[in-house]
Amino acid sequence: MTLEREFKKPRYYLHNGFRMPMGFPPEGFRSGISYQAQPSDIFIATYPKCGTTWTQYLVWLILNNGQPLSASQTISEVSPHLEEVGKETITKLTSPRIIKTHLPYNLTPYHLEASYIYIARNPFDCAVSFYHHTRGFIKHYDFANGTFDDFFECFITGEVDFGDYFDNLVLWYEHKDDDNVLFLTYEAMKSNLQKAIFKIATFLGSKYVETIKNEQVLNQIMTHSNFESMSKKQERWSSKRPENMPPFIRKGEVGDWKNYFSPEQTKRLRDKFKMRTLGTGLENLWLEV
Ligand code: A3P
Repeated sequence: MTLEREFKKPRYYLHNGFRMPMGFPPEGFRSGISYQAQPSDIFIATYPKCGTTWTQYLVWLILNNGQPLSASQTISEVSPHLEEVGKETITKLTSPRIIKTHLPYNLTPYHLEASYIYIARNPFDCAVSFYHHTRGFIKHYDFANGTFDDFFECFITGEVDFGDYFDNLVLWYEHKDDDNVLFLTYEAMKSNLQKAIFKIATFLGSKYVETIKNEQVLNQIMTHSNFESMSKKQERWSSKRPENMPPFIRKGEVGDWKNYFSPEQTKRLRDKFKMRTLGTGLENLWLEV
């Protein structure tokens, strides 16, 4: 008889089989997916923990000539999470709306002229970041005592909120060359943020390229969006986490996964990555990670 270890699992609520954080109102999801996208909308579409907040702020800064959010504003007010708040809140935003979503491509509200910025991150660092996120938001997941080994089993089987990492990545990647989609990686943003800013501005329109050609504006965007300044701001941006939990903007590094993965877990996720990306063009995306 083999004794298999019991893994602790976070709690979620299911929306037609789709896992969502417990603290998110179910009506937000229903309403959010029925939002009618507008031509001027800018969607920041990601799988969780892949650089959503960073990109939301970059887009905000590009649209606002490098001016940071004021002390009374938060990123989730100016760029709400669609499937959390629902369509009424999104409709009240001034255009162009900056809309955060973790929905898979097929559930994301679509308009041919809307802009979709998709940020992908290697699954290893994503899993580690998602683990800390899940144990830290106790009211959403009830997983404060969960270990990385526990979370890894959920991640690799896709039993986490917002669905399977690979389902999300592969489907969005199929659209990477669409005119209304910009596909970027977290790792590329880390290695050359200025280049990523130019790509985003070019994608959003020539007037934003003019904006960032002003060196002072570009410097302001770079400064306000760097890890240190965003870390300082986060106290006001995300709900309070217990003292013993890492902050939401936590480490911001490529390769932190090596501090968490066992050789067996590394092999299992590498094998899964190979299997799920075979023939998609994604196979060689993170060779260096
Ligand atoms: P880590 O947990 O690895 O540190 P999301 O916003 O999608 O939830 O992603 C969160 C991840 O992005 C966290 O990763 C966080 O630290 C990282 N992040 C946030 N702002 C960043 C920045 N300005 N530069 C680099 N990484 C950033």
